[in-house]
Amino acid sequence: MKYDLIHVRPLGPVIGAEIHGVDLSKPLGEATFKEIEAALHEYLVIFFRDQTLDPESHMRFAGQFGDLEPPHPFFPKLESHPQISVLENDEARPPETNIWHTDVTWRDKPPLGSVLYGVDIPEIGGDTLWANMYAVYDSLSEQEKERLEGLRAVHSIEVFGASGNYENAKDDGALSEILKQYPPRSHPVVRTHPVTGAKCLFVNATFTQYIEGMERQESDALLGYLCDKVKTPEFQVRFNWTKGAVAVWDNRATQHYAVADYWPNYRRMQRITISGDVPQ
Ligand SMILES: [Fe+2]
Repeated sequence: MKYDLIHVRPLGPVIGAEIHGVDLSKPLGEATFKEIEAALHEYLVIFFRDQTLDPESHMRFAGQFGDLEPPHPFFPKLESHPQISVLENDEARPPETNIWHTDVTWRDKPPLGSVLYGVDIPEIGGDTLWANMYAVYDSLSEQEKERLEGLRAVHSIEVFGASGNYENAKDDGALSEILKQYPPRSHPVVRTHPVTGAKCLFVNATFTQYIEGMERQESDALLGYLCDKVKTPEFQVRFNWTKGAVAVWDNRATQHYAVADYWPNYRRMQRITISGDVPQ
């Protein structure tokens, strides 16, 4: 893809690019936005440095990718803009996203992606890694791909209950209320990306519980095998956050892992999530 209005610097051969020459605090023209969107489809996660976003500009930029998700049931949010989740960690709130996952796969329509803004960044540590799930799928043998054809797996929000960080998940009653609102969902193990038409692996170690129609032991073994694939460095990019950096990822074809090595130092990020579609 040729880019005329933005400068794209790939961060590796498989996933990730930094975009330069764009000020996200100002409204973007349609042509510039189209190039950014094309870069997202090409690189799966794109990064901008040294941005100054207020809640309005953050919402405006995220809203160009699609409708915004309603507020997350567990994450704290900005009172003035409840669609902006505040991800804040310090000594009392240790980070918990140092596990590979795709966001919000417990919804019937998991998000298209997210726009994450680095507000307060520790001096060192706290990188985030993303993995290309097309590449993970492509690395499977033909026999493995055949075995996965048509399989579906169940994803659940339940994992938040095990966390001590979220007030509304602390007691069983509140968690079961939220489970009623967001019951476990079944998604294909391999999904076809609605824009690129390419296949990617769509199970993750955080939310995927079991593969339908399979003995639990067999399902655990297969999920363990598949979820381990994402740990291969050749499928990944690692991003070092700086204050004002923005990451946008395609949540349909990636997983991410937020390294927790900065704890107990303080970090604050703000995230807006963009609505997706039913995985096919
Ligand atoms: Fe996440």
